[in-house]
Formats: sequence, structure tokens, C-alpha cells
Amino acid sequence: MIPVHVVILAAGKGTRMRSATPKVLHTLSGLPMIDFTLRAAAALEPASVTVVVGHEADRVKAHVERTPGVRTVLQEPQLGTGHALLQAEPLLAGQEGVVVLLSGDVPLLTGQTLRALLDVHRRADAAATVVTAIVERSYGYGRILRRSGSIVRIVEERDASPAEREIKEINAGIYAFDLPPLFEALRGIGAANAQGEYYLPDLVAVYRRRRRSVATWTVPNAGEIRGINGRSELAEVNRMVRQQKNEELMAAGVTLVDPATTYVDVDVLVGPDTVIHPGVHLEGSTRIGGACEIHAGVRIVNSTVGDRVTVLNHSIIVDSTVEAACSVGPFAHLRPGSALGEGARVGNFVELKKTTLGAGAKANHLSYLGDATVGDGANVGAGTITCNYDGVSKHQTVIGKGAFVGSDSTLVAPVVIGDDAYVAAGSAITSDVPPGSLAIARARQENKEGWVSRRKAERGGQ
Ligand code: UD1
Ligand code: CA
Repeated sequence: MIPVHVVILAAGKGTRMRSATPKVLHTLSGLPMIDFTLRAAAALEPASVTVVVGHEADRVKAHVERTPGVRTVLQEPQLGTGHALLQAEPLLAGQEGVVVLLSGDVPLLTGQTLRALLDVHRRADAAATVVTAIVERSYGYGRILRRSGSIVRIVEERDASPAEREIKEINAGIYAFDLPPLFEALRGIGAANAQGEYYLPDLVAVYRRRRRSVATWTVPNAGEIRGINGRSELAEVNRMVRQQKNEELMAAGVTLVDPATTYVDVDVLVGPDTVIHPGVHLEGSTRIGGACEIHAGVRIVNSTVGDRVTVLNHSIIVDSTVEAACSVGPFAHLRPGSALGEGARVGNFVELKKTTLGAGAKANHLSYLGDATVGDGANVGAGTITCNYDGVSKHQTVIGKGAFVGSDSTLVAPVVIGDDAYVAAGSAITSDVPPGSLAIARARQENKEGWVSRRKAERGGQ
């Protein structure tokens, strides 16, 4: 096997994005777009992966180097795609094999397509192979110029004549190059063009002049090589990524009531027979079990949800765990570090933060539970509030197994409500409640009989 070296160009400013964020770090379905390219590259089991960074180099470098085995080279200043590839020379000089060149802004490309490119390149025995596509709207892409069927040159949009602009075969910006002649030939590229840049596609003409063979391979699916240059293309490609994810989910037995308004990030997993209603967002590393029902307007981020869970409308779950057969919402908010045991129930207008509910525990209405542990089967009444913050530090509340906290109680932490204890409604609990006892912490009610009529008499019968 000939070694494959992948080089990904990601140094450009991405001017057309009009963004403070480098283009390749803009996200598609929750992942920076360059991650798609890195994943496709990994399918080639390459000997090396080099990312050329330049504009906002530190941010791009810090991000891509999180992927094991990925290294970066700096292109400074950024003088075009040909100049960008030249920066990888010190890392690749003297090596054998094939360079597969990718752009950080072409995220839909699959590993399968890259393997096909290598196949074509080997079989054609060419010094370079250019990936092309036939597209309806060729605006903005380099056009492929052929003579007697063979590629002779690539001309960029800005340098093309009106007749050349009519050409529908475009340069995908993806190439395979045999290593030895590559860098020496790259130095033969000039910058006499509309942008005064060293264009990598000019390598085709350089190779032709030097009588080196250049092959082309036209991808069957032109959608795959869509480049992202502006926000509108970002939105369009995002929709394509999302659609594909939705297709995968449905193929795996998930019901999407309305795929057009279902937003599931690429790495999310959902079990079979789960039903997802419109307007649901499942983000990051979220895992949803089987036979769940996720109602409209729910957002779940980096969380794990077990089987047979119902999440009712407009609930938000972030960095939390929900075990099997729970019910959450509507309008519930599980903030980071929350965990629901099997069959627990959290109802409307309940907010949890770093709070654990045991199996079968309930907090059904209008509560704030922060830094709390609620035991199995405990019932937290409507309007219960844990006063976990004294203005300086956060404190823990512990509610024991089977405990019953009456409505509208305030639990001033740190405080422990023992197992099976009762708290009377409307109590302000400031000290621990022993197991099995009843705590009442409110003024005793007094009824003044005849008070209304006495007052009327005092006011002269008014
Ligand atoms: C490029 C090709 C064009 C092709 C299209 C496919 C050139 C000159 N043109 O055009 O033929 O049809 O891709 O999508 O190559 N970059 C650097 N350093 C630079 C300039 C760019 O690393 O100095 C990187 C960019 O970050 C980007 C990639 O190279 O990831 C492509 O650059 P871009 O400016 O987007 O080229 P296009 O105009 O799309
Ligand atoms: Ca581009």
C-alpha cells in the first residue's frame, strides 16, 4: 500500500462569511465544519494529516489538534491555495506516496468518495487527479477546460471569459497528487490573475506543460462537494446535513413527526420507536433511549435519556441524566448536573440544578430544587423551594426516601429532611427534620369568630 498524506487547507480568511469566527469553525449540526473533513480524511487511514492554518491560526490550530494525529502548518501571509499547499513541503519533503488535498470548507465530502478518488488516481497512473462535478449553478467555482476530452487548465470565476463561465463542469477543490513531482511543480505557479494569488488549480497547466499526466474524476453526487463561502451556503449545507441525519434516524426506527423542523446534531443517538415531535432540538452528545416521546419545542443538550421517557412540551435538559420511564415537563428546566432516577416525575415550571431525584420521586409543580438530593419515592409539593444560596456559598438539601414535603415549603440549606418525614405545607424549614417525624414551621392559625360583624358595627353599620 502506498502511504496517503492528507493536507487540508484552512488558512483563508473566509471574507464572504463576514465573521469574527474563522470559517472552518462555523458549525453544521453542532460540529465545526472542519471536523467533517477530518472525519472523511480518517476513512483513508492516512499516514499523516496536516491542516494549513493562517487566519485566526491559534483558534483553528487549538481546535484541530484535539483530533489525535493531526498537525498544523502556518501559512503567513495567505497568498492563495497553491501557496498554502507549499507550506506543507517541510513536513512532506522526501516522503513517498500520494497527497490527498482537501478544503476545510467542503464538509459533505465522504470517506467513500475519497477512497474512490484514490482508486481512480492509481488506476489512471496519473501524476495528479482532479475531482470535478457537473453542476447547474457553477458560479464561483473554477471551471474545467478540456481539449479532446482531456483536462488542460482550470480557470477561476474572476478570470474566466463569458464563454468559459458557461462551463458546467467545476473544480471541486479536491485532488490527489503523487508526492515526488508535487512541490517542485508548485513553485512553477505564478500569480498573474485577478486576485494576484498563487492558485493551486494552475498546477494542472504546469503539469501539462511538463508532460505529466493529469486525470479527472467526476463525482456522481455533486451535492457532496458543495463548498461553503457565505452564510447562505452555510444554511443550505446545514439543511443537507440535517436531512441526512433525519433519514438515518428514520431508517433506524425513529418516528419524526415533521423532519423539516427536527434538529438533531450528527453525534446524537436515538433508540427505535421513539417519537420526536416538531421543533425538537437534540444537541451535542445526547443519547435518547427507545420508545420515548419527545414533544414539541423540547431542547436536550449533552444529556442521556433512558427508555420509555416522556418529555413534554418546551422542556430544556442540559448536561443531565434521565433514567427509564421518567416524565419531564411541560416547561421543565433540568440544568447541568441533574439526574432523575427510574420513573421519577418532574412537572411544569420545575427547575433543577445539580439535583438528583431518586427512583419514583416526584416534583410535579412550580419548584426550584438546587444542590439537592431527593430520595426514592419522595414527594416534593407544589411551590417547594430550596434556599441553596446564602449570598456567598451554595449549600446542600437532602430529602430522604419516602419523605413528603408539603406545598409552598422553603427548605433553607444546609438542611436534611429524614426518610419518611413530613413537612407541613407553608413551612420555612431551617433545621433538620428527624426521620418519620412531622415538621411544622409556620404561625399557628387563629380564627376570630364574629370579627366581621363586630367591625361593621364599629364603623356604623357600613
Ligand atoms: C477554490 C478553487 C476553485 C474551486 C473551489 C471549490 C482556487 C484558487 N480555487 O475556490 O477552483 O472550484 O475552491 O470549492 O483554489 N485557503 C488557504 N490559504 C489561502 C487561500 C485559501 O488555506 O491563501 C483555503 C481556504 O481557507 C479554503 C480553501 O483554501 O478552505 C479554498 O479557498 P477559497 O478561497 O474558499 O477558494 P474558492 O474561491 O472557493
Ligand atoms: Ca471555497
